[in-house]
Amino acid sequence: MTDTPESDQGTSSAVEGGDAPAPAPLKINILTLFPETFPGPLGTSLAGKALSEGKWSLETVDIRTFARDKHRTVDDSPFGGGAGMVMRPDVVDAAIDAVWPRRGPLIYLTPRGKVLDQAMVRRYAAEPELTLLCGRYEGVDQRVLDAWDIEEVSIGDFILSGGEMATLVLLDAVIRLLPGVMGNSESGEDESFERGLLEYPLYTRPADWQGRVVPEVLLSGHHAKVAAWRRQQAEEITRQRRPDLWSGYAALKKNDFNKG
Ligand SMILES: C[S@@+](CC[C@H](N)C(=O)[O-])C[C@H]1O[C@@H](n2cnc3c(N)ncnc32)[C@H](O)[C@@H]1O
Repeated sequence: MTDTPESDQGTSSAVEGGDAPAPAPLKINILTLFPETFPGPLGTSLAGKALSEGKWSLETVDIRTFARDKHRTVDDSPFGGGAGMVMRPDVVDAAIDAVWPRRGPLIYLTPRGKVLDQAMVRRYAAEPELTLLCGRYEGVDQRVLDAWDIEEVSIGDFILSGGEMATLVLLDAVIRLLPGVMGNSESGEDESFERGLLEYPLYTRPADWQGRVVPEVLLSGHHAKVAAWRRQQAEEITRQRRPDLWSGYAALKKNDFNKG
């Protein structure tokens, strides 16, 4: 796919036509003990450009400002004993309350959550607003998660030291899907996961690099043959590397075939 900002390739149709309203920007609220983390890498490249163009906006809420004692304590030891500390429900609740009115999902990044996938990313990219709670220590008191009916999301089966990196990952995936952020409107559609398959192999110039040549079909200019080759490669790679994805894709394909 092409990660080229749209404005690098010419103006968008909304600007050309002058009448279509620009899509509403995505508002992103981040509740964190480390607000200085943001926008971080999201201030560069495509996401950074989109931020400066107003395609998304960012508000960070410093959870520590809601601590009630003079030491600005945000955590305490777990009831029942055990290692580490837990983020206090009263402090986290006050931080959540500060983002009001809130028009979209409230997401807590946690290894216990539903593992993020491209379908979830697409759903989040269609929201008007996202609020993300970054955990630290051993995590957040369960009662505040229950009280706010928070959506729990994981970025994979490993443990980070805080939710900030997970938030950056989720947001990077979401922001690139916002209207006008990627150059070519089709560029997202061919990517891994979008059709239930991993991506086919990619090649660019030179056609012969150190004796390794590009598959001939890609030089043929025959669009149907290129598409068929790519599909076959994507299927083969998915079958070999990701049996979990492959079984879902194969079932869908069989279903389509049976429908005629
Ligand atoms: C050290 S971790 C806590 C791990 C927790 N005690 C457990 O065993 O599940 C601190 C914080 O990092 C974030 N975090 C760690 N790994 C994550 C992952 N894989 N996905 C999303 N967030 C993660 C969460 O916000 C979590 O509250």
